[in-house]
Amino acid sequence: MKSGILLRYRDYLPFTRLTPPLSLGEGDTPLVPAPALSEATRADIWLKVEGCNPTGSFKDRGMVVAVSKAAEEGAKAVICASTGNTAASAAAYAARAGLRAIVIVPAGNIALGKLAQALMHGAQVLAVRGNFDQALALVRQLVERHPVALVNSVNPYRIEGQKTAAFEICEAMGKAPDILAIPVGNAGNITAYWRGFRQWREAGHIRALPRMWGFQAEGAAPLVRGEPIAEPRTVATAIRIGNPASWQGAIAARDESGGLIDTVSDDEILAAQRLLAQTEGLFCEPASAASVAGVLKLAGQGKVPPRTRIVCVLTGSGLKDPDTALAAAPRPTEVAPDLAEIEGVLGW
Ligand code: F0G
Repeated sequence: MKSGILLRYRDYLPFTRLTPPLSLGEGDTPLVPAPALSEATRADIWLKVEGCNPTGSFKDRGMVVAVSKAAEEGAKAVICASTGNTAASAAAYAARAGLRAIVIVPAGNIALGKLAQALMHGAQVLAVRGNFDQALALVRQLVERHPVALVNSVNPYRIEGQKTAAFEICEAMGKAPDILAIPVGNAGNITAYWRGFRQWREAGHIRALPRMWGFQAEGAAPLVRGEPIAEPRTVATAIRIGNPASWQGAIAARDESGGLIDTVSDDEILAAQRLLAQTEGLFCEPASAASVAGVLKLAGQGKVPPRTRIVCVLTGSGLKDPDTALAAAPRPTEVAPDLAEIEGVLGW
């Protein structure tokens, strides 16, 4: 049985005797070798498949801690702004803990699966006519005025939970990778991984730390441009963010690790998503593919030495966003229930 991250890593988390041991079986996700990508780049690439978490994204690691601590502290409701995955995760864990969930999402810019999840789990979903950054600013004001727990990644418990993915990677590999490649939106996750790797070293489990490579979509790359973007745009709606809350955390992860934060175009993101699906057999959502798109881009520029051990984080499942997948896919060939016709279509 999967115990979930709260119990598995209780010594490294703010887990007390009063914390309800909430779990939907999050964490312990696969670290899968990527032979086709490794051959294409001559590096040694592994994929951390975070879409295997209960609600289909890495958010569950942070949410299980944030919601259990909210319950411990007596909260009756949780609230977040979200591009979708945080909303789905908050809704699920709040349902499990018996709390009310309120989520504010950018109207028209949330993938279908994520919206379905939030609604199905019984969250109150407000679609704001604005972007994620505006939604987060509103949520920050609401928690000042009402007794409701904020479960965005500005809540330190979220970062605490998400750092456990770095622990798992080190445990699976026996050491840290040379490079950790990760999509960056609100920048909580890159901050969390860096904290996780450092903490795992302080605990004496690993010696060397990885370089952190973050990737933002070209039209939503405030960290690369060095200033907030008022109207971020990208097909990868999960990372359509113009003013990341964990800005400093991302910059620290980059600079302290000797890493980088770079951009990838929407075309590069979608190409990487297809490549992963068609050569590695892994269907991730567009934002997740930014990590692989980034490594492919830098390998193409000769910036990836042969045999470098790279872990790319696939942050969410491709099933979250069927619309984007179908938009670029060929239509199914419709046939009559007729053997000869089917053989004809197959060229047999
Ligand atoms: N990948 C996916 C699938 C995401 O949903 C997100 C963020 C990221 C990457 C970026 O992670 O924000 O920690 O830098 N999604 C948030 C949400 C913003 O509301 O679901 P980050």
